[in-house]
Amino acid sequence: MMRRVLSAALLHLCFCWTASVSVADYTETTAAPGDVALLPCYTSGNVTPELTTWVKNGLEVGRRGEDSPGPPDDGGRLAVLHDGSLNIRGVLPGDEGSYLCSSTLPGNRSFQARVLLQVASGPENVSTSVSPATSLSNGTLFAVRGSLVTFNCSASSYPSQQLTWGFTGASSSNASLVSSSGSWLDLRIDDIQPSAQGVYSCSARNNVSQQTVNRSSELLVYYVPDQHPDCMWALAQDPSSVQFNCSWFGAYPTPRLRWRDDDDFQVTDSLSVTFNRSLLSDGQTVKCSAQHQLLRPGEEKQCSFTLKLPFPEGEPLATALEATSVTLTCTEATSIPPANTTWRKGMQQDEIVPGSKYVVSEEGPELKLTILNISKEDEGVYFCRSENPLAVRELEVYLTVKTSSSYTGAIIGIFIAVLIVGTAGIVAKTVYSSRHRVCLGSGFGQLEEDRGDVLSLVESDDEQIFQDAVPRLPPITNGRHTTLVQIHRIPSSDHEDVETADTSSQQQEDTEQTEEPEDLVTF
Ligand SMILES: *[C@@H]1O[C@H](CO)[C@@H](O)[C@H](O)[C@H]1NC(C)=O
Ligand SMILES: *[C@@H]1O[C@H](CO)[C@@H](O)[C@H](O)[C@H]1NC(C)=O
Ligand SMILES: *[C@@H]1O[C@H](CO)[C@@H](O)[C@H](O)[C@H]1NC(C)=O
Ligand SMILES: *[C@@H]1O[C@H](CO)[C@@H](O)[C@H](O)[C@H]1NC(C)=O
Ligand SMILES: *[C@@H]1O[C@H](CO)[C@@H](O)[C@H](O)[C@H]1NC(C)=O
Ligand SMILES: *[C@@H]1O[C@H](CO)[C@@H](O)[C@H](O)[C@H]1NC(C)=O
Ligand SMILES: *[C@@H]1O[C@H](CO)[C@@H](O)[C@H](O)[C@H]1NC(C)=O
Ligand SMILES: *[C@@H]1O[C@H](CO)[C@@H](O)[C@H](O)[C@H]1NC(C)=O
Ligand SMILES: *[C@@H]1O[C@H](CO)[C@@H](O)[C@H](O)[C@H]1NC(C)=O
Ligand SMILES: *[C@@H]1O[C@H](CO)[C@@H](O)[C@H](O)[C@H]1NC(C)=O
Ligand SMILES: *[C@@H]1O[C@H](CO)[C@@H](O)[C@H](O)[C@H]1NC(C)=O
Repeated sequence: MMRRVLSAALLHLCFCWTASVSVADYTETTAAPGDVALLPCYTSGNVTPELTTWVKNGLEVGRRGEDSPGPPDDGGRLAVLHDGSLNIRGVLPGDEGSYLCSSTLPGNRSFQARVLLQVASGPENVSTSVSPATSLSNGTLFAVRGSLVTFNCSASSYPSQQLTWGFTGASSSNASLVSSSGSWLDLRIDDIQPSAQGVYSCSARNNVSQQTVNRSSELLVYYVPDQHPDCMWALAQDPSSVQFNCSWFGAYPTPRLRWRDDDDFQVTDSLSVTFNRSLLSDGQTVKCSAQHQLLRPGEEKQCSFTLKLPFPEGEPLATALEATSVTLTCTEATSIPPANTTWRKGMQQDEIVPGSKYVVSEEGPELKLTILNISKEDEGVYFCRSENPLAVRELEVYLTVKTSSSYTGAIIGIFIAVLIVGTAGIVAKTVYSSRHRVCLGSGFGQLEEDRGDVLSLVESDDEQIFQDAVPRLPPITNGRHTTLVQIHRIPSSDHEDVETADTSSQQQEDTEQTEEPEDLVTF
């Protein structure tokens, strides 16, 4: 018993000695559970070893030689093959470890080899989940901007693995975001933004076998603006048609818009349609509807406006005094879309061209027409014409021009009165100063009669002329009497002429009054 132990020890020593001469390189073999693992021994030549033993952790697990033809009975999983290699069928995780093979080759040579068996499996069942996210028909996911999105990746590997979440987007090419050696790895993105849109890939790597499995998913970040679409109009070249423009920017993906209920939605963020008069009516509501993936089915965002006819308002009658100026005012405040409001003249509705005669100004909804240096020709009908794509509406204004002949009459009356009183005064004075001659001459009584006649003429006839004219006179507010001064050019010798020949006297008046126009402008 003792000798056998000793010989075994000697044998071992021998092995060790020979081994130091002929031990092969250390080799590593990896096998997955259930696989067949083949651990090589002598690989340097094509010789059959006479005896091979395999030892793991000091325990012999297999032997093949002259007196031991088969492997030990352990279910036949392990077997030393003809060439000395160890075959393991149905590898178990417990099979991993360091194996030593000892062979005796022909020619009494010894050989040893060490093999490290590693058991590794996976990554398996690699799966990813992204929530909250919705899957599109092509597998791409989308999340809503601003939400908290969690990415989870899980995999199984034996004995261990490395999980990594990577991201490839517009701004970053394959950044590694997080990494761990657990069985799952989660990545959280708070308040997700469009910049986080891209491909997320989870890579699971078995850190023994180096086998890698990747799973990637494309994630889109959708968003809609809080506000409604914008409805606008653009007046077209042709005033009887209008372009409605609906825009809804700031939505991703591109929204769908339509203007009429029976139209199809179009994928666009700005939609223009042209409507003409035949499709529009007063009180009609024109509406633009918008749809988007982030709105619930059937939910729409809208903008609209209600069409209104033009309605120009103002005073239908206006009066102006010759040589002054007048302003006609028209208010157009109701039209939707806004009307093109213009002033026109005469039954032909000739367009008024602003210039030295006409001044057109706009103050909010008011359109003002100022006619300068009014003359009789300016009298007549004016139109404030308001046109929108629905219709044309007009305000008719009749302008009456008052000539200054009546004033001329009044002025002449006053002038004559002054003249006659003056003449009477002179006559009286002359008579008085030459009273001695009168006394000496044709007789005093006769003179007294004549004088009375003259005075009564002044008081009756001329008073009458004056009173006729007075009601037509403008009130002289500033107390200036320039008008009276100005008439001195009127030929006093021919009263009839002045009173009947309107035009000539007007012209004279006009010329005069341009020097001091403020007296009459106030009227
Ligand atoms: C082989 O060598 C051993 C010792 O080195 C020796 O005991 C043995 O007899 C040898 N066998 C043959 C067949 O030469
Ligand atoms: C992988 O998934 C399959 C089926 O779901 C399951 O039978 C198997 O046990 C899983 N493997 C691992 C290592 O979890
Ligand atoms: C899937 O569809 C979406 C939208 O239809 C598109 O943006 C995306 O690029 C598609 N992805 C792939 C991988 O085709
Ligand atoms: C990730 O997925 C794994 C496997 O499905 C699960 O066990 C784990 O709880 C998940 N982690 C999170 C944070 O949801
Ligand atoms: C980016 O990295 C991941 C894992 O790290 C990998 O699965 C993916 O193929 C890589 N993509 C590119 C474009 O390099
Ligand atoms: C494999 O992973 C384990 C646990 O994470 C670690 O201890 C070991 O060093 C890793 N091995 C390799 C070869 O990366
Ligand atoms: C997985 O990702 C790694 C690292 O980027 C890459 O080298 C490998 O080729 C990818 N494997 C597959 C199957 O896509
Ligand atoms: C519609 O409105 C949008 C935004 O104002 C503008 O960009 C676009 O050019 C308009 N389209 C038309 C046809 O007027
Ligand atoms: C108005 O539009 C309709 C439909 O687009 C068209 O049939 C009609 O001829 C147009 N009328 C005018 C006056 O342009
Ligand atoms: C308004 O109508 C006149 C013609 O009547 C035209 O010359 C002018 O350009 C129009 N204005 C606008 C803003 O369309
Ligand atoms: C005013 O009109 C008259 C004719 O109606 C003209 O002779 C005169 O020059 C005009 N004055 C001004 C300042 O335009």
